[in-house]
Amino acid sequence: MIILGIETSCDETAISIIRVDENGSNIEILGNTVLSQMKLHAPYGGVFPVLAKREHQKNLVPVLVQTLKHAKLFTSSAKPYTSLLQNTRTVLEMESELLTQFEEVIPTIERPNIDLISVTSGPGLEPALWVGINFARALGLTWNIPVVPVNHMEGHILVSLLNQNVNKITVPKFPALALLLSGGHTEIIYTDKIGSYKKISETRDDAVGECFDKVARTLGLTYPGGPEISKLAKTARVENIKLKDSLPRPMIHSDDLDFSFSGLKTSVLYYTKEHKINETLVKAISREVEEAITDVIVVKTKKAIEDTGAQTLIIGGGVVANEYIREALKILCEKIGIEILLPHVDHSTDNALMIALAGYFEKDKAQNADIKINAFGNLSL
Ligand code: KG4
Ligand code: ZN
Repeated sequence: MIILGIETSCDETAISIIRVDENGSNIEILGNTVLSQMKLHAPYGGVFPVLAKREHQKNLVPVLVQTLKHAKLFTSSAKPYTSLLQNTRTVLEMESELLTQFEEVIPTIERPNIDLISVTSGPGLEPALWVGINFARALGLTWNIPVVPVNHMEGHILVSLLNQNVNKITVPKFPALALLLSGGHTEIIYTDKIGSYKKISETRDDAVGECFDKVARTLGLTYPGGPEISKLAKTARVENIKLKDSLPRPMIHSDDLDFSFSGLKTSVLYYTKEHKINETLVKAISREVEEAITDVIVVKTKKAIEDTGAQTLIIGGGVVANEYIREALKILCEKIGIEILLPHVDHSTDNALMIALAGYFEKDKAQNADIKINAFGNLSL
C-alpha cells in the first residue's frame, strides 16, 4: 500500500510517501520532504499563523512535485488538461495562491500510483491546517484517491514504532504509555492498542517546548529555543558551569500526574531581572532549566508507569530531539525494566512521515470530503 502524507499544522510544510508491505511490518520511505519556515517566524519569537498559512499555500505544490520525483512517481502527463473540475476549484476557493499553482501544475502530472492520502486534521493552527486539508481533498478529487484525516499527536506516537533504520514497524508491548513532549503539548497517553488512546496527564499551563522557547526568548536566544538551550546546557556541563541557586521543579511531588511549566519560565524571568546577565550565566541558567524540566518529566513518567503497569514507554514530539531528556528516559526505563520506543532523531520534530504512517493505521477511516478540523485535537479519538 502506498500512502502520501501531508502535514501543515504548524510551521513545516511536509509531504512524505511510504510503502507498507501486506503484513504491515515493513515500511519503505519513498520520499520525505520537510520545508521549514522556522527562519521566517524567528523574528516574531514564535509561529505567526497568517504567515504560516501563506507559506504553506506557496510551498505545497513544489514540495509535492519534489517528493513525487524522489519517490519515482512523477510522470509528465501525455495529455495535460486545461481546466480543473469545478468541485476541485470549489475546495481550493479559500486558498487562492495554492489554487493558482494547483491549476498550473497538477493537470500536467500523470496520476501517481498512490492508494491513500493522509492529512493532519489537528491539533494545530487552524488557518495552517485548512491549507493542508483542502490540498489533500483537491488531490483526492483530482486523482480519485481516498483521503484520511489523522491526528498529529497520534503521528508523533506512531513514528516511534519505527526501528532506528526506519524500515520496520515494532508492535509495542501493551499496555503502553506515550509521553508526548512538543511545542504545544505535554501529555501522557495510555493505550492498550494502536488507535485507542486515553489521556492520563497533561500540562496545566505551558507545554514543555513552549517553556524552552519562552525561557530562550527571556535569555535573548533565537527561536526555536529548545535546541539553543540544550546546546548551551551541554556546554555548561562540559565547562562545569552550574547555577548557584536552583530553579523550581513545578508539581514534581504532586499526587497527580499533571505537569506545569509556567512557574519555571517565570522564575527565569525574575532571575534575569535580579542578576546581571552574561554569557556564563546564560549557560548556567540553560543547564538548570534543562535539568529542572528533565527531573519533572522523569518523576512524573516513573509514577505513570508504576500506576498503570505499562510495559512500553513510547516517546514522541519535537522536544524528544533533546539528548539529555532522551538519555534520562532511557535510564529510567532500563531501571524499571520496560521497553522504550524513541523516534529517530530526524523524525522527532514535525514531519509528514508520521502522518503517512498514521494514515496507514487509520486507513479504514478514509473519506472523500467533509473533513473537519480538530484544532485543539484531543487524542482520545
Ligand atoms: O513537535 P514539534 O516539532 O512541533 C509541535 O508540534 O509543537 O515540537 C517543536 C518544539 C519546540 O518548542 C522546540 O523548541 C522543541 O520542540 N525542541 C527542543 C529541541 N528540539 C526541538 N526542545 C528541547 N531540546 C531540543 N533539542
Ligand atoms: Zn508536532
